[in-house]
Amino acid sequence: MNLAIKTTTLLVLSSFIAGTAIAAEKPKVVILATGGTIAGTGNTSTTTVGYTAAKIGVDALIAAVPELSKVADVSGEQVFQIASESMTNDHWLKLAKKVNETLKRKDVDGVVITHGTDTIEETAYFLNLVVKSNKPVVIVGAMRPATAISADGPINLYNAVALAGSKEAIGQGVLVALNDEIQGARDVVKTNTMTTNTFRSPELGSLGYIVSGKPNFYRASTRKHTSNTEFDVSKLDSLPAVNIAYGSANANTLAIDAFAAAGDVGIVYAGTGNGSLAAPVRARLTELRQKGIHINRSSRISNGPTIRNGENNDDKTDFTVADTLSPQKARILLMLALTKTKDSQEIQRMFYTY
Ligand code: DGL
Repeated sequence: MNLAIKTTTLLVLSSFIAGTAIAAEKPKVVILATGGTIAGTGNTSTTTVGYTAAKIGVDALIAAVPELSKVADVSGEQVFQIASESMTNDHWLKLAKKVNETLKRKDVDGVVITHGTDTIEETAYFLNLVVKSNKPVVIVGAMRPATAISADGPINLYNAVALAGSKEAIGQGVLVALNDEIQGARDVVKTNTMTTNTFRSPELGSLGYIVSGKPNFYRASTRKHTSNTEFDVSKLDSLPAVNIAYGSANANTLAIDAFAAAGDVGIVYAGTGNGSLAAPVRARLTELRQKGIHINRSSRISNGPTIRNGENNDDKTDFTVADTLSPQKARILLMLALTKTKDSQEIQRMFYTY
């Protein structure tokens, strides 16, 4: 065989091996679908509000983005089909168990969760505290229904799958990926009722960007998450009853009285300013603490820490403070804390750790 044929044969053979090797390197990403606008449909292609969320199944979402197969070996499972304002503790427990079960599979490299945007930040933070794996978990949604011109769901889903299959996302905690940005579960918040850039991590900052399917991280979360947390929901069928009361001018105790009467074991109070409490509210919360209900002071203000012993003598009333967690995320951490301890000092440690 002359040299030319030998060289060609070698080139063909090596490119086949390389091609097979590259094809074999594609990560396996499982998409767990829960509903939301990303699966929503409107009556016309210009309907971007007043559509119906949670209509399109996971197989159709995947089929609508054939480019997914370029970045990962993708499969899907429909876990629920709901608008996310209706997400409950029970949904979270089922989803967390499904995520942990899926990530235990040796053939799975990462998970994407499609989800309504209204409570993405809460589901993300809950999973950030209870997923027991360093493999990527990326939650994705859309602000425009799948039927709309320039729907953002397909590109968001493509980016989320690329991120979930990437080595860069390993060990970064649960991530939220919309609008080409990577947000950390602890600090992300929905900041606008309708625009596609609604998810931000105000003041503390996003973690990075996704550019043509490639994740670029510039920052990492400093608080413990996933494999490094002390919370385990694998054997739980329910979570402690914790509700949020909202502070304003003319504040009264109607809401906290109702929570106490309903048997709540914890109350998060979203105070004005730095978690400030109107006098009758402070008095009633102090009484409820003495009766054994755990009280966490947070703030209705979107940025900055609620500081211990600032607007209230927390040492004296035995309250905890939410640090920079929003009221809705403080509720999640207080629920999980109460699955581990009733000791206020231990609970406060958890608010400074996660
Ligand atoms: N119903 C809201 C939800 O499911 C729609 C918002 C959205 O998904 O973007 O969260």
